Amino acid sequence: SSALPSGYTIRPLQRSDYKDGMLDVLRVLTTVGDINEKAWDERYDWLARRGDEYYILVICDGDKKVVGTGALLIERKFIHNLGLVGHIEDIAVAKDQQGKKLGLRIIQALDSMAQKVGCYKTILDCSETNEGFYVKCGYKRTGLEMAHYY
Ligand code: ACO
Repeated sequence: SSALPSGYTIRPLQRSDYKDGMLDVLRVLTTVGDINEKAWDERYDWLARRGDEYYILVICDGDKKVVGTGALLIERKFIHNLGLVGHIEDIAVAKDQQGKKLGLRIIQALDSMAQKVGCYKTILDCSETNEGFYVKCGYKRTGLEMAHYY
């Protein structure tokens, strides 16, 4: 099935998600830092102005708390006839909510948005430990990730 657990919802990120646990969900993924509400609002507004480029989804539980999130960036290319490529970033599900297919639902929703806007593929980077998850979401290993940290 492709349903969320009863009472759960999936929707675009909202400004008010600062107070509803978005940053704590991201802390499952990596370092977030101390982001105050003003800094959150500024970043949120910047992203919202680029609404056809950044799509961030959240899953909320029955108490309206954010328990999962994921982002889709749309890259606009010259190659492949002005092709569009989706980039999936920052997938995270709260520790006590993992294993309920929430991650899968986030990826499915981002994939269908990418298809709808006309992307010919969506790509992502992940660790070896997450490969099995993305395989279950329909992804396959191609190439090699490299990074240059500054
Ligand atoms: N390895 C292999 N299989 C996995 C893994 C894994 N690490 N995680 C989940 N699966 C399987 C599940 O067993 C399930 O299989 P099934 O359909 O046979 O039952 C299927 O994948 C779907 O799993 P979900 O329940 O949807 O996974 P969950 O909601 O727990 O989310 C996630 C998975 C997002 C990786 C979560 O564990 C998490 O937040 N981890 C910490 C943060 C993280 O590593 N995020 C990904 C970073 S990569 C990126 O952002 C592009």
